[in-house]
Amino acid sequence: MQIEAMEIESAVDKALARLDLATKASLLAGKDVWSLPAVPEIGLKSLVMSDGPIGVRGTRWTPDDPSIALPSPTALAATWDPELARRVGRLLAQEARRKGVHLLLAPTVNLHRSPRGGRHFEAYSEDPFLTGRIGVGYVAGVQDGGVGVTVKHYVANDSETDRFTVDVRASDRALRELYLAPFEAIVREAGAWGVMTAYNKVDGTTMTEHDGLVNGVLKGEWGFDGVNVSDWTAARDTVGAALGGLDVAMPGPRTVFGEALARAVEEGRVPLTVVDEACRRVLRLAARVGLLAGAGPVVAPEALPEPVDGEGLAREAASRSFVLLRNDGLLPLDPGRLTRVAVIGAAAAEARVLGGGSAQVFPERVVSPLDGLRAVLPEVTYAVGADPRTKLAPAAGDFGLHAVFRAADGTVLGTQPLQDGSARWLGDLPDGVDLAALDSVEVAGEFTPAIAGTHRFGIAGVGDYRLVVDGVERFAGRLEADSDDPGAALLNPPELRFDVDLSSGRPVQVSLTHRVARAEDRDEGAFITFRLGHATPTPPADALIEQAAAAAGTADVAIVVVGTTEEVESEGFDRSSLALPGRQDELVRKVAAANARTVVVVNAGSPVEMPWRDEVAAVLLVWFPGQEAGAALADVLTGVAEPGGRLPTTWPVAAADCPILDVEPVDGVLAYDEGIFIGYRAWQRREGPAPAYWFGHGLGYTDWSYDTIDVRPASDPDLAEVTVGVRNTGTRAGREVVQVYLAAEAPEPERPARWLTGFASVSAAPGEAAEVTVTVPRRAAEVWDDGWTLVPGTYRVEVGRNAADVRVTAPLALGS
Ligand code: BGC
Repeated sequence: MQIEAMEIESAVDKALARLDLATKASLLAGKDVWSLPAVPEIGLKSLVMSDGPIGVRGTRWTPDDPSIALPSPTALAATWDPELARRVGRLLAQEARRKGVHLLLAPTVNLHRSPRGGRHFEAYSEDPFLTGRIGVGYVAGVQDGGVGVTVKHYVANDSETDRFTVDVRASDRALRELYLAPFEAIVREAGAWGVMTAYNKVDGTTMTEHDGLVNGVLKGEWGFDGVNVSDWTAARDTVGAALGGLDVAMPGPRTVFGEALARAVEEGRVPLTVVDEACRRVLRLAARVGLLAGAGPVVAPEALPEPVDGEGLAREAASRSFVLLRNDGLLPLDPGRLTRVAVIGAAAAEARVLGGGSAQVFPERVVSPLDGLRAVLPEVTYAVGADPRTKLAPAAGDFGLHAVFRAADGTVLGTQPLQDGSARWLGDLPDGVDLAALDSVEVAGEFTPAIAGTHRFGIAGVGDYRLVVDGVERFAGRLEADSDDPGAALLNPPELRFDVDLSSGRPVQVSLTHRVARAEDRDEGAFITFRLGHATPTPPADALIEQAAAAAGTADVAIVVVGTTEEVESEGFDRSSLALPGRQDELVRKVAAANARTVVVVNAGSPVEMPWRDEVAAVLLVWFPGQEAGAALADVLTGVAEPGGRLPTTWPVAAADCPILDVEPVDGVLAYDEGIFIGYRAWQRREGPAPAYWFGHGLGYTDWSYDTIDVRPASDPDLAEVTVGVRNTGTRAGREVVQVYLAAEAPEPERPARWLTGFASVSAAPGEAAEVTVTVPRRAAEVWDDGWTLVPGTYRVEVGRNAADVRVTAPLALGS
């Protein structure tokens, strides 16, 4: 049963009429880090929020509340499949409901402006149309399950440097045609129930106070009727935020709304109507997700979508996202014709399955590439080759770690077993531990080394620590954050290391104690995050590379997994380089020299330089593939599944070639001087080196011919229907992503050489022909010039396999 909008509005009006000013203001402020207060008198339950976007973490930031971890957003976009994104959304709604979450802080629809952007992995694409299509599918899926979203981060939060203060200067045309476009598509077409306003400023005004872009564009022009939630701590001024269209200030309990907002109304600085309107939006959202008595939920329990198999979908989405960049015919592998395979790389044993920062979730299981390949290939030998991690991994395995929570007088307030050396409690503490009484947290365990030699222990965190290993105090002192980002302790903490010689088989006690923050900071809830790291003795780096080359030399095939690390690709900072960290390039070259049948698997969320790409037999990009990484990799390398992905962003040969690279503000300003020319639009426009792989590129395991194109006029609001005939000319069944671009012949106003305006996928057996029809919307031929204006003239519809590989074209004449 669908609840009618009018029923909701009347329940909302009734509820609002019963609230006094103080309660109204309290409803607009976080009660704690993740939720809004309940108001039992009007039958309103507490609304709970959680990140997003690759899973639903819930209100705890710890592994004890596991979640399905899907492939990261660049991967989802690489599927070019809005319907798959919708299924992903439904799974996330199912996860949210399981965890008592009503509002998912996702999807991230900022654009890939520079590949140095730290959250590049968390956004979809350099193209606003593809971003919008994937975003519409994802949001529709989440909301099909009766759970809300916050489309984020509105707007122009495309890099991380000085993210709280940076002032992005972009022309109205660039904002409308690029950065706002995905938000517009999602709000208008999927009817998003929430949006999150970003930390940054746009044209001098911080986004949580941006009357023009929020009240004017989002709520006014687009008719957004959902809730505008601030990014965490982004709201800084009560009156500015209220008048600028912010509805909810997060996190609580200390925010610029709540009591401060009630006072501002009493003093006449904020009209009561503004607070009423924000409350109405919160109550409407509550009704939609089933938290307001007498009004819902919008999706009744009996109308919820069919249950989704999370592990199955994670595996399917991963293999569909993998992009085969290059293949000299080695792939797919036939396991029956192999006797020995060398699997190489630190990421093969421990892949980076998800990106760092708020996108982090804790899956119950992770299938590593090594485990996945061992399950399907004959004799597998493993060599680490090169370990690019510059920070120690959390102490794991045979440490038997637990946390002990103590008061200042030493009384034990509680204990909790730990999976590994990561200690993290944000908001909540383990049951029974009172934050007011808490003085220290100790991570302790007993470690029996299997290998004698120099073991390395590490402390990663900010604040006061004491490390004791084998009865000897190794450190007692303070670690300071390396950056001003308030999230630095969480996202990129400093690390100290200590070498300790240990014998094998003799157990030693290990203890790391952290003094928690001062009492006056505590009304924000717990903020405890630190790590006990450990590394066993390893051979010298040169020897590791030689061992890997030797393993490759005696194998039928070498599979090298290379990738980025948490230290180079994460929320909270931008990347300083696109090179693979550590000695991974050298590793690939040595392995390829030892075995011509070398496959390189690239485990990165965003572009990396691959100077060896023409020296290896195949390159497969797997992004951050989620928890089923290894299972999906095995499927694709052995041809059980086709690598279905196409690049959602153009890959440079070298960082220096990128048309837009810089992310550093100058005097606080980040000028988007390139206007509408980002991504392939920028690469096509300028003279200079070509990219390694264009937007849209991806090979699959078969070949396609593009045979016919037919363009017919369509009725408003569409311009044309484009029907394309293709044929599978290879020897395997496959799926092709047919990409439809538009190109303008008129010189004015300046346009990209071509721009994506539609796409569709088609599957066909070997030799089989198929047709797809793609609609060209009116917006494709419009430009922003103080309003949307259709530019009349002659256009060309260009259809092909990527932004630079056009196979069939047809003219399209547009009158005014
Ligand atoms: C991020 C948001 C996230 C929020 C809550 C912020 O730092 O920018 O994307 O939803 O934290 O974790």
